[in-house]
Parts: sequence; structure tokens; C-alpha cells
Amino acid sequence: MTRPLLSRPDDGPTHSADWWRHAVVYQVYPRSFADGNGDGEGDLTGIIGHLDHLARLGVDAVWISPWYPSPLHDGGYDVADYCAIDPRFGTLHQADDLIGLAHDLGLRVIIDLVPNHCSIEHPLFRRALAAGPGSSERDLFVFRDGRGADGAEPPNNWPAHFGGSAWERVVGPDGVPEQWYLHLFTPEQPDWNWSSPAVAEMFDDILRFWFDRGVDGFRIDVADACAKDMTLPDLPDDAGSGMSGLDKFPGHPYFDRPELERIQRRWRAIGDSYADTPQGPRIFVSEAYLGPTPRLAAFTAPGRLHATFNFDALLTEWTYSSQRAMIEATLAGYGAVGAPCTWVLGNHDQPRVVTRYGRRVTGSPYTSAGLGRPSPAGPGADLALGRRRARAATLLELALPGGVYLYQGDELGLPEVDLPPEVLQDPIWERSGHTRKGRDGCRVPLPWSGTRPPYGFSPEDATDSPWLPQPGDWAGLTVTAQEDDPDSFLTLWRTALRIRRQHAALGDGRLRWDPDAPDGVLGFRRDPGFACWTAFDTGPIDLPVGARVLLASTPLTGGKLGPDQTVWLAR
Ligand code: BGC
Repeated sequence: MTRPLLSRPDDGPTHSADWWRHAVVYQVYPRSFADGNGDGEGDLTGIIGHLDHLARLGVDAVWISPWYPSPLHDGGYDVADYCAIDPRFGTLHQADDLIGLAHDLGLRVIIDLVPNHCSIEHPLFRRALAAGPGSSERDLFVFRDGRGADGAEPPNNWPAHFGGSAWERVVGPDGVPEQWYLHLFTPEQPDWNWSSPAVAEMFDDILRFWFDRGVDGFRIDVADACAKDMTLPDLPDDAGSGMSGLDKFPGHPYFDRPELERIQRRWRAIGDSYADTPQGPRIFVSEAYLGPTPRLAAFTAPGRLHATFNFDALLTEWTYSSQRAMIEATLAGYGAVGAPCTWVLGNHDQPRVVTRYGRRVTGSPYTSAGLGRPSPAGPGADLALGRRRARAATLLELALPGGVYLYQGDELGLPEVDLPPEVLQDPIWERSGHTRKGRDGCRVPLPWSGTRPPYGFSPEDATDSPWLPQPGDWAGLTVTAQEDDPDSFLTLWRTALRIRRQHAALGDGRLRWDPDAPDGVLGFRRDPGFACWTAFDTGPIDLPVGARVLLASTPLTGGKLGPDQTVWLAR
């Protein structure tokens, strides 16, 4: 089952035990990546058929968002079986093939672990419902009697992230309402009770199931929420609402609890127990919107998780002072615990980067970074400006010390799509009372080739259209259209990743700020012989004397650096 990683011709980093410290990881959102069977939804056949795109791009690893059986109430983050593949995506046998093929191509494979909650269709939740109040089956979840004389009020005031209360009342088979269960996300996603040893043991087995199949690591979904204060105290009135705006204050009853550390160490020990296998120890990267930096960096202290998504990079506005402060805080925060930094500009929960950077307001504080930020698509985004900035930001992040996470389609510069209400599937749309369109605009199926939908996403003889409609003007954004265009996004990514793999200064390590960089230019140097300069709203700027341009995010005018441009230099 587990095949050895074959060597890639041009390097070795993917094969070293600390590959995760500098890896460029490509996120596949399976439903929207590539459709192999023509039903309008992406699948494993599609991923297998396009793994060469990732290898040619030059990434080190692929992270695959949930591929498990799911009723898709939250895009697959409502898992009905953690040890199987959703039949609409394929089979376990295909997953084995995919892992093996990825390894043959020199790509590590990370999959998603969703430990905070499952689906109402998970057999253990069904059993808990049937078993009734006070049963050991219900102890795997968080069931409580309601407040008020007849228990008609939820047990406390916790809000669900996507709107409404975090509690849903169970109605017994006789139609009589009984207990409530906790769901920090949709009512179809009941929270596990992590104070139950049986839950922790079940997840140990899930980790081993996939590690034994050759998976190299897990991305931990909502990694700051599993542990709860089981006295279930009310939140203070000023804690904000779940639909973004939640204040994760220290001592919060369900965010960043001290009990998390024990859980993380337990997982780490399991990953480390694979040290003697050909792939080496398996790794964990956490997903948590949690600030300030030292708080999140604590997740990556020795013996805990390996890395964590740095959402500061994604949320920080595109200005010299903000970017510089963010980079300094990131380097200091992770440096203090000896963990690598990661740089993240997009994912399946956030508006596309080219659209975000084309808006007047390019950043967002943590308290409004919640899932389902208002979609910035539609009139008002200057996409030409957004693309220029996104290209500059791409070279900036690829030059910084650490690893990079790249969301599918960002290598093509795809914009956010302003979808019509009738096609929206994100639960945020319904649960916000139709005030927030949610995250579908960044989940539109990828354009691979051709001049009109489905742009090669589905085979020619497909029976169904893509599950979310693709815009009619994406012909110039397909992989095929960008392939041989020296000025395309795709070419920029490929070139940058090639240089990054070959240049001894890039990847993990240190930087020093460049004293030669003029005011308003974010300049740093990395040894040996590399410099990166980013201009924000200044320019034209002369490049340092004697420096040779390795790569520029957009063509330099008269050999000078202009606004919203990054240049890589040999010095
Ligand atoms: C995932 C979201 C999901 C939520 C609940 C997030 O962090 O990235 O897509 O809706 O967790 O599982």
C-alpha cells in the first residue's frame, strides 16, 4: 500500500524528514478540481488525471479537503464516515492509487481531519439519538437538557458560526421535544465531546487508518475548538456573534482551551510513531483563526503540532507598514517556539485573493475574519489592480522563510465569482437569512481548457453541468490558455517555484531587512545572494547597483520597480 517516494529529478527537499518546514502545499477542493465521470462534480479520477499539473507547477505537497462520505451540508466538513471515500468522489481503492501516484511524482499527501464535529448521518450520532438521555452513546456528543420550565430554551447562549444558536433540540420518535445537542457550525454538524476518552481513542484509530495507507499528514479543521469548558457557561454579552465578530478572548469556553495541548501531543505522538517508515514521521498543520501570533504559535511548540496556517498573511491589508509588521510578528512568534512560518493567501473559505486585493479595503481584523466574510465579488473590485498586487504578494510570500499554502485556482489568478442566489449551496446563505452569500464564489470549478464552460472541468460527454456555474469570460484563464503565455499567472508561479526549489537561500531559514531598500519598499535579503523587494505605493525605484533580476511579478518599466510590484534579485 505504502510506496516509497521516488526522487524528483531536480531536488531532494520533499524527501527530507523536515520537508514540512519549507513545503509549498497545493490545496485541492475535490468537488471543484476536476470531474472525471461527467456528473458535474469533481472526483478522485479527476484529481488523479491532473496530478501532473501539480508536479509541473512545482509544489511539494497536495492537501485534499474532505473526501469522506458526507451529505454535504457544509461542503464535506460534515463527515459521516472518517474511514471511507464519498461514492460521488470515488473509492478507497482510488484513494490508495492517488496517494501512490502522488508519491511517485514526488508529492506528499495531506488530508483533512475534522475532529470538532461530524455529520448527523454519522452512525454514532444516530445511535446517540436513538439511545436517549443519559446513555453512554450520548456521552460521545454534547447533549443537555434545555433551560426554562419545559426545557424549551437552549442550554446556554452560544452562537453557531453560520448563524442562529449553537444548540438544536431533539424531537423524539413520539414527536415530543427532548434534549438539545451542541453544534458550533450547522445543526447538521454535531460536536464531539472531547472530554470522553472514547472520542480521543476513535480519532487515534482514524489517524492510523490513513497513515497506514500512506498519507503524510493531516490538516486539522477548526483546531482551536475541540476542547470545551464542560460546565458550558454562557458567553459574556459582548463576545460577539458567530457570523464573524466572535471575540476569542483568553479563557473562552470553547476556543483555545488549555485542554487542547493534551490532544495535540497525543496526535503528535502517533505521527512520530511512523518515524521508521520510508516516509518518516507524519505531520499536522492546524487551521485556526486565532490571534495574536504568540497564542497561535503555541500550537506549534515542541511536541505539539508541526505548523499552523498563518492567517495573518491572508487578513493583513496590502500596505508597506502593515505587511512589514505582520512579517515581523510572524517571524518572531514562530521563531520563539522553533516552528516554521507559513504564508497563506487563500483557501476555500475566503474571497479570492485577486478580488480582495482589488478592493479599497484589502485587509480584515480577526474578529471579522469569520467564515463567510461578505463576498467582495461584484462591482467595485478593480481586478487589474488586484491581479498586479496578488502577483506581487505571491513573489513576496514565496521569498519569505517557511512554507506556503496555495489554494487551487490562485495559480491561475481566478477572481471571486458573484453567483446568483439560486445556485448558492453554502449553508451561510440560508443561515444568514440571505444576507451573506458565503463562500461559493471561491469554489467555482476550475477552468482547464477550451473557450466556454465547462472549460475542460468535465469530460466532453458530460451528462451534467458543473455544480456551480463558471463565468462565460474565463477562456483566457484556463490552464491551457496560460501555459505558453510568458506573462500569465501560471507562468509566474511555475517560474517562481522552479527558482525557489533551486535557490539555496529560499525555503526555511532567516531573513534580514535590506538597509538599501528605499522608504516604502519592503526589502529583505537571504543568504546566499538573494534579495526580495516589494514596492507598495511608491515608484519608480532604481534597483540596487550590481543586482541581477531573477524574476519580477510584472514587467519592470525602464528597469525600475513600480507600485505593487515585487522583484527577486541576485545580489
Ligand atoms: C473549514 C470550513 C468549514 C468549517 C467547519 C473550517 O475551518 O475550512 O470550510 O465550514 O471549518 O468544519
